[in-house]
Amino acid sequence: MDSLIIEGPAKLSGTVTVSGSKNTTLPLLFASLLFDKEIQFENVPRLWDVETTLKLLETMGSEFSWNKDLGRVSILPRVRVKVAPYEWVRRMRAGILALGPLLAKYGEARVSLPGGCAIGARPVNYHLEAMKRLGVGIEVEEGYIKAQIRGELIGCDISFPQVTVTGTENILILALSARGTTRISNAAREPEVVRLGEMLRDCGAHISGLGTSTIEVQGGELRPPAKPILIPSDRIEAATWIAASVATRCPLTIDHTDNSALGSVIQAYRALGAKIEGNARGTSLFVEPRNSYASIEIETAPYPGFPTDMQAQILTNACLAHGTSKIRETIFENRFMHVAELRRLGAKVSVRRNVATVEGPTKLVGAPLMATDLRASACLVLGGLSAYGQTKVSRIYHLDRGYQRLDEKLRHLGAKIQRGQE
Ligand code: EPZ
Repeated sequence: MDSLIIEGPAKLSGTVTVSGSKNTTLPLLFASLLFDKEIQFENVPRLWDVETTLKLLETMGSEFSWNKDLGRVSILPRVRVKVAPYEWVRRMRAGILALGPLLAKYGEARVSLPGGCAIGARPVNYHLEAMKRLGVGIEVEEGYIKAQIRGELIGCDISFPQVTVTGTENILILALSARGTTRISNAAREPEVVRLGEMLRDCGAHISGLGTSTIEVQGGELRPPAKPILIPSDRIEAATWIAASVATRCPLTIDHTDNSALGSVIQAYRALGAKIEGNARGTSLFVEPRNSYASIEIETAPYPGFPTDMQAQILTNACLAHGTSKIRETIFENRFMHVAELRRLGAKVSVRRNVATVEGPTKLVGAPLMATDLRASACLVLGGLSAYGQTKVSRIYHLDRGYQRLDEKLRHLGAKIQRGQE
């Protein structure tokens, strides 16, 4: 397994380019199952999760080609077997996103339950309950969801008890095949959901309310996309580069951003102690850390609140701030696995229920660390960039699931970081 070896404290300079959004790419790739014609995608990030998704689609019968250097994917959707096997879904919970398109297009599906992961149990009950309300027959047996549409689906009102991003995406797609109108309340407002809805609208779907908590979908026919689907910038990667600038106290220019999706992150980092300016078009950021950082109070929330996928990163930065910072995680029940690892760098962090209390400033000192999940691995790299001495982060396959060659981008900015084998 790969590991990263970092000599800190790192000095960064220059411009970094943000890759395409993982959490936009995955639902769009699964949505290609709705069509019979070849679909082109551009600016696709080079990630393990993209590889896993394409391989899963291939096992169902689709053909794909992927030019990783150009970030171009073309998929010829074909479905021989309407099954998303455990072998693939256990590697990537987003495999649950096969359920909506398979049902919408073929009326049946057998999808492995995703199982939990390091950050929580990650159930899919909201997805299944909503599908049953639309008229889908659902049985769960031997670790698989067996779903079948008998007759036709009838549009209805769906209200999610908790905002669910992939739940909203699955129902948004499934509702296209229902007769009449489906109204989704407490829908996810994430940009990834909006981009999926926009693509479907470009294909003739009648969807309103994207980006709000209430989305309305009219069932109807779809036509294939008329042009390649462009993947937008990854807002969590862009935010992670803001964190890297703060971690190293080095100004950074971050290119290919979508600043309109970063409001809560920019606000939080300005409060911590960084001057952040965007260009007129909102497609790049210039981050200039101040000499000292102030403690912060952060609570993660569904978009447009502060993203849970940035909680580990800003917690790491808070170790450098003067005073006591509070980080409250409201989305996942076990998303502080990185705290024990950060303590190995000397971080002064305590956790009670869903609140982490961080004392600072702390001089972090390099140590061997182990990644547990995608965003935690990013925060350990940030810790290594701030720490004095050598930090080795092992099990960085977690990192490669969601960040395109983060170590190469860091080396390009001047970091002393090498990838090694354990
Ligand atoms: C999406 O996961 C993202 N993944 C996650 O990003 C992100 O952390 C999460 O949304 C929250 O923003 C993708 O988009 C592929 P949820 P998702 O359903 O959809 C509970 C990353 O690092 N819940 O919005 O799986 C759930 O347990 C990943 O890129 C149920 O209880 O998350 C959680 O507490 C990590 N039952 C909360 O809702 C359900 O049926 C929000 O989960 C569904 C969710």
